[in-house]
Amino acid sequence: MPINEEQERLMPRPVCDSQSEMNEIVLPNDANPLGALLGGRLMHWIDLAGALAAHRHSRNYVVTASIDHLDFWTPVHVGDLVVLRSSVNRVFTTSMEVGVTVWVENYLLDELKHVSSAYLTFVAVDAAGRHLKVPPVIPETDEQRRRYEDAGRRREIRKAERQRRQANVP
Ligand SMILES: CC(C)(COP(=O)(O)OP(=O)(O)OC[C@H]1O[C@@H](n2cnc3c(N)ncnc32)[C@H](O)[C@@H]1OP(=O)(O)O)[C@@H](O)C(=O)NCCC(=O)NCCS
Repeated sequence: MPINEEQERLMPRPVCDSQSEMNEIVLPNDANPLGALLGGRLMHWIDLAGALAAHRHSRNYVVTASIDHLDFWTPVHVGDLVVLRSSVNRVFTTSMEVGVTVWVENYLLDELKHVSSAYLTFVAVDAAGRHLKVPPVIPETDEQRRRYEDAGRRREIRKAERQRRQANVP
């Protein structure tokens, strides 16, 4: 029996199909008066880089539902080349966890230093903002399978934390 458009959209896809990379040169407007990249600017880039993979995987509009804890390990300065890599770790029903790793590239020495890593949850939505089902993702490598398993544990922690916060809202 021929499959319809919706069934076609919901066909499982391998992680590698939507893995994305975004590159940015740090300009003076991205930095504080000491020439160091602003944390808020990096968070903006992380959100965009994560959305790239989420859009590509879901083939839909997405909104950011949450961003987990962020650490900044290495300072980044004006003129540096920042590399952001994103990958869909796991799909649940209408949401997906995307991992973003951030690197600063020394293109003179051909070296990469880890700057930050983040997990974001995106929800696929239609033009009216209603959530939509997302196709399953297929992890193919050991690393992707590890991230898939870990994403399940992180989702449970996130849910519990969300419930705890909601219970405290006056
Ligand atoms: C995210 C949003 C679409 C969820 O609304 P909803 O669909 O009515 O919410 P539901 O409770 O039915 O949850 C839908 C999915 O989102 C997930 N979700 C909802 N809030 C979440 C949060 N804070 N963190 C992680 N996941 C969340 C749920 O777990 C569920 O996932 P699943 O279907 O894969 O199990 C809605 O809260 C929203 O539009 N928020 C604003 C988003 C935004 O403006 N972002 C910044 C600009 S892009």
